[in-house]
Amino acid sequence: MKKEISRKFCVAPMMGYTTPYARKLYRILSNNSFLFSEMIATKSLIYSKSKGNIIDNDYNNPVALQVGGSEIEDLSKASQIAIDYNYDEINLNVGCPSKAVQKGSFGACLMKNKVHVRNCIEALQNDKIEATLKCRLGLGSELNYEFFEEFIDEISKSGIKIIYVHARNAILNGISPQGNRTIPPLNYNFVKKIKYKFPDITFILNGGIDNLAKAQNLLEEFDGVMIGRLIKNNPFILKEVDKKIFKEKNKTIDELVINNYFEYIKPKLGFESIFRLLSPLLNIFFSVPHSKVYKSKINDYMKDQKINLIEDLLLKFVSERNLS
Ligand SMILES: Cc1cc2nc3c(=O)[nH]c(=O)nc-3n(C[C@H](O)[C@H](O)[C@H](O)COP(=O)(O)O)c2cc1C
Repeated sequence: MKKEISRKFCVAPMMGYTTPYARKLYRILSNNSFLFSEMIATKSLIYSKSKGNIIDNDYNNPVALQVGGSEIEDLSKASQIAIDYNYDEINLNVGCPSKAVQKGSFGACLMKNKVHVRNCIEALQNDKIEATLKCRLGLGSELNYEFFEEFIDEISKSGIKIIYVHARNAILNGISPQGNRTIPPLNYNFVKKIKYKFPDITFILNGGIDNLAKAQNLLEEFDGVMIGRLIKNNPFILKEVDKKIFKEKNKTIDELVINNYFEYIKPKLGFESIFRLLSPLLNIFFSVPHSKVYKSKINDYMKDQKINLIEDLLLKFVSERNLS
């Protein structure tokens, strides 16, 4: 059975960032945010020996596993893996414009073949997990609402219930993935229009939401918002989400946050780089004045893998500074 889950506030999938460790921190900071893994290629998901590390979930639900792939059989297997690892959702990436991803015939280039995308969604569908899609508005430099509507119309035949839209086109040639997050113009109106056309589908708006006040305003018109770079640059913003968006108590940044986080990462040391383990938490220094001494000590301890000393230092930091 699928659970009823709020997707009002989603943290976007981001390769290199929404690691299991970052998701642990996100969950400590917000009970209600809906989380995503990084995009994982279906082949890695199926064949990688370190799969357990890459997609560890540790009950940080609600959470989606995002996959990149276009082979029907692989997608069905990926869906079963997501169920086995206790994910609530499996999401197909049809928005990534990178050259490597195009070479593998997945990501945004799949928008050229809407029938195949529908088949892919159908391959992911399973009674035990929600199968969803993350896409762009279209391809190339021209915005074209009809293209977008025809694409969604075809996908809707799969019975899909949730679609995340990065509300700009993808340009497959000539600009980088970073450029593809800034150069093609945003168009939230397309998402508004499509939502009225397909009232049975929940559309989550993504792209350019760079503060929580903007997210709150957009939630008056949209079913949900998905935020990437704002959280990547400062995950600690999440501590305000439960209060501002879900009208619950604010989380405080205290010793408990540090203890919970280290309890999760310590057993991973040796299997994972200390940098990847710690980098989400080190954003704790974001715009906190006079934290240079702490940062430089932590750098030294990281070189020597002294994780207990780093934990002690961070405990001292949060008890000395009022970060709430
Ligand atoms: C570093 C980085 C990595 C990303 N990796 C993925 C990914 O793995 N899958 C995906 O669908 N989108 C990925 N994206 C795109 C984001 O999910 C999101 O669509 C985009 O950043 C726009 O949202 P924002 O304006 O809130 O950042 C990535 C973005 C960034 C900045």
